[in-house]
Amino acid sequence: MCGIFGYVGSENASPILARGLKNLEYRGYDSVGIATVSTRLEIRKGVGKIDDAKERLRLEEARGNVGIGHTRWATHGTVTAENSHPHTDCRDEIAIIHNGIIENYYEIKKRLLERGHRFSSETDSEVIAHLIEDNLSNRGGAASSNGSSFEHACVRAFQELRGSFAVLAVRQGEDKIVAVRKDSPLVVGLAENGTFFASDVAPFLEWTKDVVYLENHDLVVADRAGVRFFDQDFAEVKRPVSTVEWDLEEARKGNFDHFMLKEITEQAETIQRACVQDMAVVERIASMIRSGFGVFFIACGSSYHACLTGSYLFSKVANLHVNVVLASEFENYEHFLTDRTLVFAVSQSGETADVLEAVRAAKRRGSRVVSITNVMGSSLSREGDELLLMNSGPEICVLSTKTYTSQVVMMALLVCSLKGDPEECVQRVKGLYMDIYNLTSRSMRERLKDLARDLAGKDHIYMIGRGLQYTTALEAALKVKEVSYIHTEAFAGGELKHGPLALIEEGTPVFVFVSRDNEDRIVSNAQEVKARGGFVIGVSDWNSPVFDRWIKVPDCGDLNPVIQAIPMQVLAYELAIQKNLDPDKPRNLAKSVTVL
Ligand code: AGP
Repeated sequence: MCGIFGYVGSENASPILARGLKNLEYRGYDSVGIATVSTRLEIRKGVGKIDDAKERLRLEEARGNVGIGHTRWATHGTVTAENSHPHTDCRDEIAIIHNGIIENYYEIKKRLLERGHRFSSETDSEVIAHLIEDNLSNRGGAASSNGSSFEHACVRAFQELRGSFAVLAVRQGEDKIVAVRKDSPLVVGLAENGTFFASDVAPFLEWTKDVVYLENHDLVVADRAGVRFFDQDFAEVKRPVSTVEWDLEEARKGNFDHFMLKEITEQAETIQRACVQDMAVVERIASMIRSGFGVFFIACGSSYHACLTGSYLFSKVANLHVNVVLASEFENYEHFLTDRTLVFAVSQSGETADVLEAVRAAKRRGSRVVSITNVMGSSLSREGDELLLMNSGPEICVLSTKTYTSQVVMMALLVCSLKGDPEECVQRVKGLYMDIYNLTSRSMRERLKDLARDLAGKDHIYMIGRGLQYTTALEAALKVKEVSYIHTEAFAGGELKHGPLALIEEGTPVFVFVSRDNEDRIVSNAQEVKARGGFVIGVSDWNSPVFDRWIKVPDCGDLNPVIQAIPMQVLAYELAIQKNLDPDKPRNLAKSVTVL
């Protein structure tokens, strides 16, 4: 949930940290801080976003060629300056930044308090700084051939921690960064001017594309002479260097006001890129589905909706039953897993803790796992037995838009592969290019802006659909609620009479998603809404008399979930703008939910 950034090299660290943290801000942003090492340790931290804090804290005046920086999304402890990172030891000589959750922090803190340590925050993270200090003071960190006493004190501290943690540690008088990653994302960038650390690659792309994706439990020591990698027993290891395909522009807004609009607009291309797969791998996965005894799709949020859509496609097109389970609920199904079960784990970020926990549970039971993610080098990209990458490019906006439609396309590709004709899917997706181009055009945006103006003051919005249009309604409702803060709920059209119809009163807006293959029933649901005074907004390729407003979309059959999601993404964006909200950083949310 938080953003981590570190630099050690030939240049002054603080300007680099400030730029890196700005690039990371989308990951979590209620407070920010840096620590740099010159003749002494300098800490500058406070509540607020980077731009505000940069001036107020004069971040770029901090001195030293070694520095660590952090943007915080609060999990343990309220949003205060004391709780923001970096955290220090009793003597302010050691500073750490942390992303994740320390599960055994209470017992460690209790022991350290008894040993006289004084804490200044209510966070779990602060125990790491005091633990390193304690290891140093009781000579637990004695220097040895392959490491200084500080390095050993850090390693001993990291080895004692339980939970999820990516940590960077620095110390006054030491020109180095000691780092560890366990179940939280951390990557290393190698550049001419030094070594970079970050939660993912985008923040340091402007300096280097040479990246080391750390293995879980890896330890790293970087100083001005270079960088060394170690396993969890502190034995030196080699790690391969990869080259990032993305360029910085892709990770930046271009000429769009917000990442959300940029990423919505990219979908004409990104759904094509989702089809660019190693067909041998797709075929292999299709055969695993056929031979599997039980198939589970697990995911969260929008990725879950893509899986739900996929399950309808598997049923309708491939005549196959698959289970779809929210990753956070997967523990209730684990006892069904065997070594013949096939589990698909779908996650844009590849770092969603609920998904990773489910994957590890599946692996413990011998099940095979197929990872579908957008981030090469993410935990999920390395923990599955098979990997399909979404190729959507960096998605910076907290809302999933282009990655959702890419996931749906990949479901369709798997289904077509099961039918023995993946190329059919590729060609049909190619045919959507102009449709999507038109749906994200300025004229379409103007029409949706008008509708957004009419809806911006509403307290409740409902959405209904049947079959693939029901899963589309679920996804559309999530987009609207998470970016406009309007209570928005989706129902299966057939469920209206079983309760939700009681919610409809004069003027209640209800979106109705229609496709040719189930139009009669959903239109009669729309009439039920209309009869109670509801305001019906049709999403379909034809205009029905029951509609008060109509969003015209082409009927694309099984690919309707792709096409019908896009105007809803644009509408959600326009609602946020109407309400003067930041569509890229909705309140209380983060791009990657890396805590359980
Ligand atoms: C979707 O707009 C939200 N950002 C959220 O529901 C997201 O889909 C969910 O957190 C899953 O993220 P993941 O795909 O990275 O696992």
